[in-house]
Amino acid sequence: MASFPYADDYPVHRTLPERGESRAEILAMMADLASREDPTWETGQCSGTMYCGDHEHYDFLNQAFSHFSHVNTLQRDMCPSATKFEAEIIAMTLDLLGAGGLTGTPAGLITSGGSASIAHAVLAYREQNAGSIDRPNMIKPETAHPAFDKAGHLFGVEMRIAPVDPQSAQVDLSWVRDHVDANTVALIGSACNYGYGTIDPITELGELALELEVGLHVDGCLGGFILPFGRELGYDIAPFDLSVPGVTTMSADTHKYGYALKGTSVLCFADRALRNSQYFYLPDWSGGKYCSPGMDGSRSGGLLAATWAAMVQLGRSGYRDYAHQIFETAAAMREAVRSHDELRIIGSPSFLFSFTAPDFDVYHVNDFLRTRGWRLNGQQYPNALHMAVTRPQTRPGVVERWATDLADAVDYAVAHAGDAAQSGAIYGGVAGGPTAETDDLIKFFMADMMDQQQSIPD
Ligand SMILES: Cc1ncc(COP(=O)(O)O)c(C=O)c1O
Repeated sequence: MASFPYADDYPVHRTLPERGESRAEILAMMADLASREDPTWETGQCSGTMYCGDHEHYDFLNQAFSHFSHVNTLQRDMCPSATKFEAEIIAMTLDLLGAGGLTGTPAGLITSGGSASIAHAVLAYREQNAGSIDRPNMIKPETAHPAFDKAGHLFGVEMRIAPVDPQSAQVDLSWVRDHVDANTVALIGSACNYGYGTIDPITELGELALELEVGLHVDGCLGGFILPFGRELGYDIAPFDLSVPGVTTMSADTHKYGYALKGTSVLCFADRALRNSQYFYLPDWSGGKYCSPGMDGSRSGGLLAATWAAMVQLGRSGYRDYAHQIFETAAAMREAVRSHDELRIIGSPSFLFSFTAPDFDVYHVNDFLRTRGWRLNGQQYPNALHMAVTRPQTRPGVVERWATDLADAVDYAVAHAGDAAQSGAIYGGVAGGPTAETDDLIKFFMADMMDQQQSIPD
């Protein structure tokens, strides 16, 4: 039981309480738990995940959410506001991502997050070709997010994995060309990818897609709401959005650098026919004629309201200012890495970066950084550490702390080069865990970890 969260401080509910508990006590407990957990990122030492990191902004979004939290967006006659928020979020995102000059009819779909947007893109390409292709495939750079593999698994679309150049960490275009066949429905590029923050050559992928007459999805889940402002500010970022000829869909997560609450993302389509291809209809169901735009049925109007509120309140200048701070902070943090000959930054990243250590296991660096409160993400093949710079890192003193702690961590790693490191590569978790086991053992370990997170307390 000791491992069950907060079991020492609060009663564990194994059954529904017979008599309801007081609202005040419930809220007091939640405030206590949140106040214990927030300091893990408030220091600015946690990679990614808390994109805005500003409690005033969160309070504002929570107020917006509260007006519509109880509303089900399925019942549009009761909440035309949901149509207003949804349509305007899509319009603003399409505009931001270069849909303005397109000749087709650009369209969008709001989903529950990046993985869901990617899943819907994969589904749309499958459905668009359903009449002519039985066994569709798509080609993704190895560095593209596992959400593509998951979607392929769910929807029966084969994911062909293109290698990336080890220096640039960008997709190998000739491999892609060689592996397109009559069953290929779309190519994939990232702007930018999760692991290294590098952007695939989208213009060249677009040319290939047009030549070979296949779709092209750009995964801007991470970059979609920050890279446009980076380009506007003059950072060296190649074109990556819907304005690039050949790009047919692009995902961009409002719940990341869009600074909205967790639970929304926008999937943009260069043409609405592709979006409409994945709608689900059941016209002859006894419960009534059924149609849904995405995988969800009921959805809370609160999330649409909060997302709309974040976008409209920040405006272009707000996003631009945040992007500027983040790009400058990322550059300063990278400089600290570059000041150590032992470390190597992978590729040419922008606002997130990853580094490895050719002569020792970089997980030693992480072992030490963890003792100083840093929470970086571990990666593998090669072992590397990833830092997605968000607003908490832009606070005063964080870059200086990074430089000092990193220098001490490199000293520690050099001194412990012969030992086994403790850290490992677990996506979305603190970088700790098994490092050199076989795939079967790792699957066992991960299944066990999932199981523990869902299990009933004894
Ligand atoms: C590039 C990229 N694509 C997709 C995703 C998946 O997004 P989500 O976790 O919202 O499902 C992520 C998540 O970090 C990402 O970085």
